Amino acid sequence: MTRFALGDSRMKLALRVVLVVAIVLIIVVGVAAVKVLGPRAFLGPRSRSLTSLTFEVTPRRLARGKYLASSIGCLYCHSPHDWSQHDDPILPGMTGAGQQLPYTDLPGKVFAPNLTPDKDTGAGNWTDDMLARAIREGIGHDGRALFGIMPFAHYRSMPDEDLASIIVYFRSLPPARNVLPKTEIIFPVKYIMQNDPQPLTAAVPVPDISDPVKRGSFLVNLIGCADCHTPVDNHHMPIPGMEFSGGQIFQTPWGTVASANLTPDPSGIPYYDEGMFIKAMRTGAVGARELNKTMPWSVLGNMTDEDLAGIFAYLKTRKPVSHHVDNTEPPTLCPLEGAMHGAGNQNRKQ
Ligand code: HEC
Ligand code: HEC
Repeated sequence: MTRFALGDSRMKLALRVVLVVAIVLIIVVGVAAVKVLGPRAFLGPRSRSLTSLTFEVTPRRLARGKYLASSIGCLYCHSPHDWSQHDDPILPGMTGAGQQLPYTDLPGKVFAPNLTPDKDTGAGNWTDDMLARAIREGIGHDGRALFGIMPFAHYRSMPDEDLASIIVYFRSLPPARNVLPKTEIIFPVKYIMQNDPQPLTAAVPVPDISDPVKRGSFLVNLIGCADCHTPVDNHHMPIPGMEFSGGQIFQTPWGTVASANLTPDPSGIPYYDEGMFIKAMRTGAVGARELNKTMPWSVLGNMTDEDLAGIFAYLKTRKPVSHHVDNTEPPTLCPLEGAMHGAGNQNRKQ
């Protein structure tokens, strides 16, 4: 009897120890998972409720929306192109109809959805506020967190009137049927990216673009030139102090290419003048050298002279960063970013 009771309480103790250890383990693993993946991996993305907001169609909005969609990047990603031609024309009748993004180094299969008013395969059944929330806040029509290659973090600074114009323009496109699968992002990125969307609850006013540098600063940040033109570490994070100095490496159907150093350093583009810059953006060529299609000049070159001149004026004010990048040379190890690109071996750590 006593022996049995003793065994029983030992058993209870053992069970209790196992239970405590299990709870501690669950907490440790849970805390680690929240630390690595972020709290929103478990809670779902931050989002606001949809409103019944609608945007009135005006000729001014249609024109402004068309200009923005064709020059800041929307139509580049959200339309299928004939990549065999130099200027990547959109397939006839398919403006805004979506496509699989062509880059081969993405963490999954990424589709830019059909935004034409087609009811079956496009945005025909989505409300204006679904589109508005997606563009500036990163939440899709169905409530999912959008993968950040859709530059919603940049578009957050898009003034209300420009947002309205873009939506009015997409709504005016001829509906195009184009069945596309859903984006599929791999683990752990698909959880980590749930932390990125941020609701907007206040109006976004028109920025101060009263001089070329201010205009350029606004546009460069809206478009996100630095996302491509800043080198990244092996966690794909921008390397501090090297903004706009190029050398980020892309694997694309058009070969492996590194972005260019756009700073005024001797290793950047000190020899550019405004005319040469506008010509490069319009033609996709610098003298006889054709730019790799990863540089989306075929849309960015649709900007007006005033907008492009502003971008150039802003780039000239950037901090010079010594970083040799030359895609016409064979890839060599660059000690500044620990990756291989043309002229990498000409760089020295300070
Ligand atoms: C670099 C490529 C790229 C650019 C530039 C881009 N998008 Fe996107 N966009 C995407 C991708 C990819 C998705 C889908 C992401 C996902 O499914 O996680 C998306 C999603 C969206 C959605 C959400 C669709 C839905 O399912 O609810 C809207 C709306 C949208 N984009 C509008 C725009 C507008 C307007 C612009 C220009 C101001 C723009 N995009 C520029 C790639 C891009
Ligand atoms: C999707 C990534 C991407 C984006 C966005 C992007 N670029 Fe580029 N850009 C590149 C790559 C890659 C190259 C290198 C092309 C080559 O060497 O063939 C390049 C090259 C250039 C060049 C040519 C420099 C030279 O003389 O070799 C200029 C100028 C330029 N980009 C300006 C810009 C500006 C301004 C923006 C924003 C308005 C921008 N780029 C946005 C990827 C990008």
